[in-house]
Amino acid sequence: MSIVVFGSINMDLTAYVPKLPQPGETLQGSSYITVPGGKGNNQAVAACRLGAPTKFVGRVGIDGFGEEVLKIVGEQKVDLSQVMKDPEHGTGIAVICVDQNAENTIIIISGANFALDDSDVARASKVMTDAKVLMLQLEVPLDACLKAAKAAKEKGVKVVFDPAPAVPLPDEAFKLMDFITPNETETEILVGFKPENAEDASKAAKLFLAKGVGTAIIKLGAKGVYYENEKESGFVPPYKVTPIDTVAAGDAFNAGLAVAISEGKPLAEAVHWGAAAGAIATTRKGALPAMPHRDELMQLMKEQA
Ligand code: RIB
Repeated sequence: MSIVVFGSINMDLTAYVPKLPQPGETLQGSSYITVPGGKGNNQAVAACRLGAPTKFVGRVGIDGFGEEVLKIVGEQKVDLSQVMKDPEHGTGIAVICVDQNAENTIIIISGANFALDDSDVARASKVMTDAKVLMLQLEVPLDACLKAAKAAKEKGVKVVFDPAPAVPLPDEAFKLMDFITPNETETEILVGFKPENAEDASKAAKLFLAKGVGTAIIKLGAKGVYYENEKESGFVPPYKVTPIDTVAAGDAFNAGLAVAISEGKPLAEAVHWGAAAGAIATTRKGALPAMPHRDELMQLMKEQA
């Protein structure tokens, strides 16, 4: 049932503002938090909280932020034995603004995250031996991601690929993905149009399947989630919650999906797990603190079944 996450870890510096700033504008914020984030780390913390033994493979710098994120993430019971302390690069940082509508802007200073290379892939490959799922995102070098995905394929480990932040991908990449989980804007970068509804998402999903993806799962934000593979397709409407901060909701979605897959749940149920996990994440501030726990996910799914 275990999960390996290969990816980024950041310190998130988040300001809560009445509206997102315009160029040249100085804004008065209402509050500020400093919490661990990074798409890889958020996925690892959420997977762990949702019940999967989870190993995170990545890098931090030898600095104060690195020490602090490892201490806090370690307290979440994520296995950090494969995190390298990089002597040449600083810990990744994200500068985030969240407005009153729970929307956000994020600037990433990648630092050590963008130094992941073959040595990190080798560590990931070693700990994948007893894993069911490998989770990947794109805040680390694409080359390293694809090599990690190849290692997973060779070991029969399922690959959940979150193309975030999206960049155009080579054809070979799609063949390595058991699951791809783009949102609307990432879908647009990868297939050339932005899905606005389930019908559009189905067209996009078919393009992903034609490129060799196993299952395409298109996140449509507040409109729900569409999924499709060669055998089945479906739509999961959004769980009803009151969002205050959407940072890392996509990461929580991926973790919910991956944990359900690692437990052998059917696809439709696994997408529900993702949708419920993502919804819960929007109800709390920050990345790591917002990641869902298994009991609250079960409760939400039961209440809104
Ligand atoms: O997906 C949210 C994450 O994106 C934040 O935690 C931030 O660190 C950026 O990586």
